[in-house]
Amino acid sequence: MNILEIRNLCVSVEEKPVLKNLSLSLPEGETHVLFGPNGSGKSSLMLTLMGFPQYKVTSGEIFFKGVNITSLAPSERAKMGLGIAFQSPPAIKGLKLGSLVHEISSRFFPEFSLEEESRQLIMQTYLHRDVNHGFSGGERKRSEILQLSAQNPDLILLDEPESGVDIENMKTLGQAIHSILHRGATEKRTKSALIITHTGYILDYLSADWGYVLVDGQIQCENNPYELLKLIQEKGFQLCEVCERTQQKQ
Ligand SMILES: Nc1ncnc2c1ncn2[C@@H]1O[C@H](COP(=O)(O)OP(=O)(O)O)[C@@H](O)[C@H]1O
Ligand SMILES: [Mg+2]
Repeated sequence: MNILEIRNLCVSVEEKPVLKNLSLSLPEGETHVLFGPNGSGKSSLMLTLMGFPQYKVTSGEIFFKGVNITSLAPSERAKMGLGIAFQSPPAIKGLKLGSLVHEISSRFFPEFSLEEESRQLIMQTYLHRDVNHGFSGGERKRSEILQLSAQNPDLILLDEPESGVDIENMKTLGQAIHSILHRGATEKRTKSALIITHTGYILDYLSADWGYVLVDGQIQCENNPYELLKLIQEKGFQLCEVCERTQQKQ
């Protein structure tokens, strides 16, 4: 079964089309990777999947666990098991990180151990602070993954988890994300992920199944994610404009 299926999705933000007839299928238990140059619509796709109202679906449909969620509110999507870690997590003054994580876990995942998880993410001393307020880039990302872990979503949307993060933090984040994805897994992973990455560092900690290159709101190419990453690193995204696969598609 596909945990996520996007059919011919067209999305506009402030009247500007940002996603153009995008289709994608993510089978349950798989990790898919989204590459693409700045401004190609990667974050817009994630925010549309989560249901942020600025992103207007002008046509097409989004199915999550077989249910058409295209017009559901973000809170309904979260209750169904969809979770996101933002590219630039916002700060929330007046709300303690520990209270937020406790509130999330008590609703979504009562077995969550705040002590253990905050230790893994080296966030024990941040729990009494306002969410992300004055946090460094790496601290914000660790805080974000702690919140995601407390939600225990079945499909995890990660928007550039390595941006603004040093190598030490990357290891901590990579291991924590790996733990979330494998939580409760038996032989096969039980959780699925859609990950945006530029550097591919996160892929050192996860095994990815499939990759896409998004250019100007459209999927130009799909292939083995490690091969795509290698090609992009060697030749850049200009390659997509002359790629044989793209030519064949047109
Ligand atoms: N909330 C918004 N308001 C106005 N323009 C937006 C908004 N979100 C995205 N865009 C525009 O949509 C395009 C795609 O942006 P984005 O999805 O953030 O790209 P990426 O994540 O691939 O770098 C950009 O031109 C960006 O300026
Ligand atoms: Mg982005």
